[in-house]
Amino acid sequence: MKLELEAVRKSFGGVEVLHGVSLTGEGGQVVAVVGANGAGKSTLIKVLAGAHNFDSGQLLIDGEELGLRSPRDAILRGIRTVYQELSLVPELTVTENMLMGDLPRTGGLIDWTAAHRRAGEILQEIGFTGIDPHTRIRRLSVAKQQMVEIAKSLVTEPRVLILDEPSAVLAGSDLDALFTLVRKLTARGTLVIYISHRLVEVLELADKIVMMKDGTSIAELDPAKTSEDEMIHLMAGRAVGQIYPDRRSEFGEPALELKDLAREGEFKGVSLTIRSGEVVGLFGLVGSGRSELAEAVFGARQATGGTMAVRGRILRARNPKTAMRLGMALVTEDRGRTGLVLGLPVRDNVILATMKGPLMRMRPASVRASRRIKELDIRPAGCATQPAWQLSGGNQQKTVLAKWLETEPSILLLDEPTRGVDMATRIDIYRMVDSLARAGLAILLISSDLTEAIGASDRLLVMREGQMVGELDPASVTEEEVLAYSIGTQP
Ligand SMILES: Nc1ncnc2c1ncn2[C@@H]1O[C@H](COP(=O)(O)OP(=O)(O)OP(=O)(O)O)[C@@H](O)[C@H]1O
Ligand SMILES: [Mg+2]
Repeated sequence: MKLELEAVRKSFGGVEVLHGVSLTGEGGQVVAVVGANGAGKSTLIKVLAGAHNFDSGQLLIDGEELGLRSPRDAILRGIRTVYQELSLVPELTVTENMLMGDLPRTGGLIDWTAAHRRAGEILQEIGFTGIDPHTRIRRLSVAKQQMVEIAKSLVTEPRVLILDEPSAVLAGSDLDALFTLVRKLTARGTLVIYISHRLVEVLELADKIVMMKDGTSIAELDPAKTSEDEMIHLMAGRAVGQIYPDRRSEFGEPALELKDLAREGEFKGVSLTIRSGEVVGLFGLVGSGRSELAEAVFGARQATGGTMAVRGRILRARNPKTAMRLGMALVTEDRGRTGLVLGLPVRDNVILATMKGPLMRMRPASVRASRRIKELDIRPAGCATQPAWQLSGGNQQKTVLAKWLETEPSILLLDEPTRGVDMATRIDIYRMVDSLARAGLAILLISSDLTEAIGASDRLLVMREGQMVGELDPASVTEEEVLAYSIGTQP
């Protein structure tokens, strides 16, 4: 089986975003698509998935035009897509989501026993164990939800499987399970199109790398003959140099102190201090309680035990308003749900957290917003007035960051701030975090990206099952050691 995309062009409301993209792949291959945020990766695969119509160009399988008019057409042709944004129904079970529209029936009635068994078998077969088909989606971690999303796309055994940043929310054994699955599928003759910003992963998995830039495919690379550096360079159009800034060594007074902080069923006995000027990394697998902890510190969830002090003062009232007044900001991991108002223009999102009543003066605010947009290189140019939903995933993430920087915090809680962000921009973000720390901010950096957790922090804490299990020196620790703490196999 041979898939060919030829000179695909696509515009939105008169603005062309794909300027003739070509890509080919064969059954049994992993073709990776990489490129900076906004390069057009998701748009391209939405064309191939039948979700977007396109202006010109060709989509062929074995030389035959596909003529897709809807996602349904694509599925019928054996093309399945797992989108960057999850699309499961939270109130329905794993089984219902996976087999939706195709539930087994006996005598007109849905046979639930058979349905759950079927879903269980599929999960088992693809190696995604530890997911109970009876569970409602909203009860699963984001990582497990991502895995159900993938399982769902495999119910019909596709010829072409498209994965748009499947690994952004996966770590540890979940990530291993995904890799094993991709290898199994290609061994079976499936063509896997794999989009990721984790370039090391791409080098390991892909047979071929297609690089996109500003809406065109600019290079086809052989993973055996390229490197992370070369790819970042091509993407950014410049040499980027050192990924992580030098560690800081001078710290001020404690800015945030937690003593035995606890919240029923989520975390307990959490004690930590972050001094001004310090970046404290917090690593842990998804579900270890890191995000819950950050939300409790910010007052978005109520801690049920322990104390918290800001610049030496014990905090009694705990809610986001008080937290913000004390100079705290929380950049959340779930940008769609808590970070952005997708229907509002990018500019309004940036100034959202600093708006003070109806008398706020719009003009200076929008000038400030434009400055942030520029500073963080949020694209496309002129996106200030565009609704946030139109931005690419990584640019939405940068908008959330801009919004919180705009509050000029002194304590910055970052929960997975680089999820979905391209490498060159990540480097910019690490530099920004560094200069904020040097300017005296106290920063908590939550990350499930091991390299990032080690590279960007002055001190590294590891959390597992709601407890702090290690405090490590990032200057000397290895990735294996950190991982061992996070899964509980450390010596
Ligand atoms: N529905 C839409 N309306 C208008 N513009 C859009 C729409 N969808 C995407 N775009 C624009 O198309 C361009 C490409 O976006 P796309 O989502 O394909 O990027 P991407 O390569 O997937 O980026 P990321 O790595 O951040 O996910 C961006 O400039 C984006 O703003
Ligand atoms: Mg995308």
